[in-house]
Amino acid sequence: MRVAVIGAGVMGLSTALCVHEQYGSLVPSLELAVYADRCTPRTTSDGAAGLWQPYAHDSGDPRETLWSKETFDYLLGHVGSPQAEEMGLFLISGYNLFKHPMPDPSWKNIVLGFRHLTPRELELFPGYSYGWFNTTLMLEGRSYLPWLTERLTQRGVRFFHEKIDSFQEVFARGADAVINCTGVRAGRLQPDPALQPGRGQLVKVRAPWLKHFVITHDAESGIYNSPYVIPGSRMTVLGGVNQAGNWNEGNCARDRRAIWESCCRLLPALRKATIVQEWSGLRPLRPRVRLEREALGHGHAPLEVIHNYGHGGFGITVHWGCAMAAAGLLGTILQEKQQLSPPRSRI
Ligand code: FAD
Ligand code: BEZ
Repeated sequence: MRVAVIGAGVMGLSTALCVHEQYGSLVPSLELAVYADRCTPRTTSDGAAGLWQPYAHDSGDPRETLWSKETFDYLLGHVGSPQAEEMGLFLISGYNLFKHPMPDPSWKNIVLGFRHLTPRELELFPGYSYGWFNTTLMLEGRSYLPWLTERLTQRGVRFFHEKIDSFQEVFARGADAVINCTGVRAGRLQPDPALQPGRGQLVKVRAPWLKHFVITHDAESGIYNSPYVIPGSRMTVLGGVNQAGNWNEGNCARDRRAIWESCCRLLPALRKATIVQEWSGLRPLRPRVRLEREALGHGHAPLEVIHNYGHGGFGITVHWGCAMAAAGLLGTILQEKQQLSPPRSRI
């Protein structure tokens, strides 16, 4: 039974790991391969800030809330373990700031210690009159993706560093099922008008005195073109642009100036920080994550594809819940192909 995963970002690697953890020993014939034209450290997932918080998106879709919660709980279970450092995982607290009162977010009971800001706390951030404080998790892609890759390699999963031009190409190479984790470029394999890039740019600085994240939501400038500051393990990430429809992966000097100036207005001591790096990436924006099974072709042996893409600015936030859901869909295919007994008879 050959399963091919296309994509080696956080979704492809975590889905492959989840599949192998769930079925590796139950289906002895399982052979898992990962195909990707960009691997760590060159994926969008590597560059992302890594904060567990849905960004620019609160669809209220109960499936997305469940996947986010499953991911948070899974990571919280690892945060005290000796592996946490190698995974790039740690707890962090911080502020979300608004200029007007806002309804509480769907994730308020998922994170730790969600509460509203006090007047004294708001005095720290002139111009903002409302906000939240909570503790959440950071999962840095530049550590987590190598960690996932190492787990997969130890399990015998094979990697192919190449571009795939069609699903048919992978089936022609012997795959019995394909899991599509191609992120923002999924539309090249199968047209998807609902998917578009949300270009982001980050300025990475050395500012070791900053210990809390600060995310602003400035309604005037379009909710999600507004500054944020997120301290990481080695660098602090400054950001705040989300340009829908823009495919440019290069850094833009105008965006750099806008990010720098708006973050320095928010936290004036940042002017003393040293700029270390710049990065731009494309969020796979979609009104809803596409996580579903599709049978391509006709006849007795349809080509089974599981789609798992369109995670916008919250791929790190939902990845493990989505990986488990995708693995569950594969479990159904394995049962239908009589590679796996139905759950009850397995007990
Ligand atoms: P990717 O990481 O883009 O991986 C896609 C994979 O598919 C790559 O390996 C690529 O090579 C492969 N691929 C695509 N097409 C083909 C093909 N035809 N053939 C072979 N391989 C192919 N999310 C959070 O939860 N927290 C954050 O703090 C956060 N910060 C962000 C900051 C910025 C500036 C940006 C841009 C995004 C941020 N995100 C964040 C969002 C997050 O980065 C994405 O949701 C996530 O990386 C998507 O993961 P993915 O695996 O689907 O895609
Ligand atoms: C972003 O996509 O830029 C982002 C995602 C989560 C938290 C902060 C920023």
